[in-house]
Amino acid sequence: MRLDRFLCETTDLTRSLAKKALHREEVRVDGEVIKNPATQVDEQSQVTWNGERLALVGLRYVMLHKPEGVECSARRGLYPLVRELVDLPHVERLQTVGRLDVDTTGLVLLTDDGQWSHRVTSPKRRCGKVYAVTLAEPLAGSARDDAVARFAEGVLLDGEEKPTRPAELAMRSSRVAELTLYEGKYHQVKRMFAAIGHHVVALHRESIGPLSLGQLGPGAWRELTEEEVARF
Ligand code: URA
Repeated sequence: MRLDRFLCETTDLTRSLAKKALHREEVRVDGEVIKNPATQVDEQSQVTWNGERLALVGLRYVMLHKPEGVECSARRGLYPLVRELVDLPHVERLQTVGRLDVDTTGLVLLTDDGQWSHRVTSPKRRCGKVYAVTLAEPLAGSARDDAVARFAEGVLLDGEEKPTRPAELAMRSSRVAELTLYEGKYHQVKRMFAAIGHHVVALHRESIGPLSLGQLGPGAWRELTEEEVARF
């Protein structure tokens, strides 16, 4: 890639500031001062800026235990963003793989690999997301059996043209449900329970496909292993 692009990718410099740094002779490639922004460099090139070695950041894959009161969006609004909890360079390049509501807790994946993100979220891949859902009122007996059947068939949500894809519902206790979804519509869990007359008071995502939070506590994060990334 061009040297000015390399500088933008590896530092906070904009294209025009990168060109100025080159002009001021602050950049060396393999020990030699280079001023031409169009000079081609690759991962093997030893590029320094004011003596500091610069390296391209590869694609990153992170799992995070989202606490309440943190937002999954790209821009800062009322609440802090999930990626602000992650201490990695160029964290602004990480996007969440799907979203959780601000009051939902649990497993969030972040990456700068758009294709991988698409693989994880594509309903065709049938990558199940498991939610622990706490309801305001008990759901038991024949109402529970009806709910299991309706969620397995698909529910037509307000404002949608197609019903939800088949989902698996099991009750862990009279007020705590385990729901597995294979898609991710806006507020889907809350809207599905609203469609059967139930209000969700707490929502926690436990796993996405083969990945679960394990020992990761609220607010904690870690990078995925290569083997975990390859599972999708
Ligand atoms: N469904 C919801 O209603 N909220 C979430 O955060 C995730 C799924």
